[in-house]
Amino acid sequence: MAMITTVQQHILQQQQETLKSTGREATGTFSWLLSGITLATKMVEAKIRSAGLDDVLGAAGAENVQGEQQQKLDVYANQALLHCLGLRDSVAALVSEEDEKPVTFNRDPEAGKYIIVFDPLDGSSNIDVNVNVGTIFSILRRLPPEHGTLEESILQQGFRQVAAGYVVYGPSTVLVYTTGNGVFAFTLDPKIGAFVLSSERMRMPEQGSYYSVNEANAAGWPEEFRTYITKLREGELGKEYSSRYIGSLVADFHRTLLKGGVFLYPPTTKQPKGKLRLLYEANPLAFIAEQAGGVATNGVSRVLDIKPEGIHQRTPFCVGSPREMELLAATVGGR
Ligand code: AHG
Ligand code: MN
Ligand code: MN
Repeated sequence: MAMITTVQQHILQQQQETLKSTGREATGTFSWLLSGITLATKMVEAKIRSAGLDDVLGAAGAENVQGEQQQKLDVYANQALLHCLGLRDSVAALVSEEDEKPVTFNRDPEAGKYIIVFDPLDGSSNIDVNVNVGTIFSILRRLPPEHGTLEESILQQGFRQVAAGYVVYGPSTVLVYTTGNGVFAFTLDPKIGAFVLSSERMRMPEQGSYYSVNEANAAGWPEEFRTYITKLREGELGKEYSSRYIGSLVADFHRTLLKGGVFLYPPTTKQPKGKLRLLYEANPLAFIAEQAGGVATNGVSRVLDIKPEGIHQRTPFCVGSPREMELLAATVGGR
């Protein structure tokens, strides 16, 4: 029988390695947390597979804090994550795109050590047309009370993340995550209902052949972004590019991680600060990109260094291979 490694086994192996290399007793808390996330994503995946039958398509008839029409699946995914994670006593707070304020549990700081930030359902506009959607999560450690409040713990810079990951619900359902020791991918095996290790220590190619941006906004971008796309089109990097834009960040990111190239959501006239959210879209994907040898900026500076001011703060988001991101820095970063 072929040996399989599930995500739970992998986390425990990682913790053994941490113990060996740092002597730091990595408690089982983290794997218990992750099992809460994977359980919730399996619930979402099951709902998506039968979406047309279970009346989970379409709008929920309410707006979320972003003023966006909530889809039924947004609400379902949010409830699944809040339910599966709220029961874990190591959780101090849950921050969701779909909730205006963090959900906090007044647990003793010694017990409630982690904060989980998530976009429960990314790519909502694609749900009803059967196109890939995703779930994105980021895990922060609560600061010791003498170093900061729970609120300050939530607003830590992205380089303080202890883990980040996403699940992309597509032809297959793939979980990709990092705890700072490389990027690993697990494919959900429907026959056994477990995420099984499928890629280890993933590396983003040095250069790709796709650029990914919503060109409908081009007139509203800062001029340097139009110049950048023209440079790619005109072969400045010595190769032809093709355009791919799915409209689900997780799917556009996953392709960029595997094939290289660049994804951009620049500032636009409508969204001068960018559309994507720092805490639960840009930060987790930036952590994964860097762990795979990629680069993630807001066009000018490193995403993971941005100091968050609010939990729903937006940022321009540019992520991709070193070659394309070098050209972006030279063109947009004003170097
Ligand atoms: P969400 O469904 O969580 O609100 O995220 C949607 C985001 C992201 O998934 C995608 O990259 C972007 O919206 C697409 O925006 P445009 O339709 O403006 O291109
Ligand atoms: Mn999203
Ligand atoms: Mn969402």
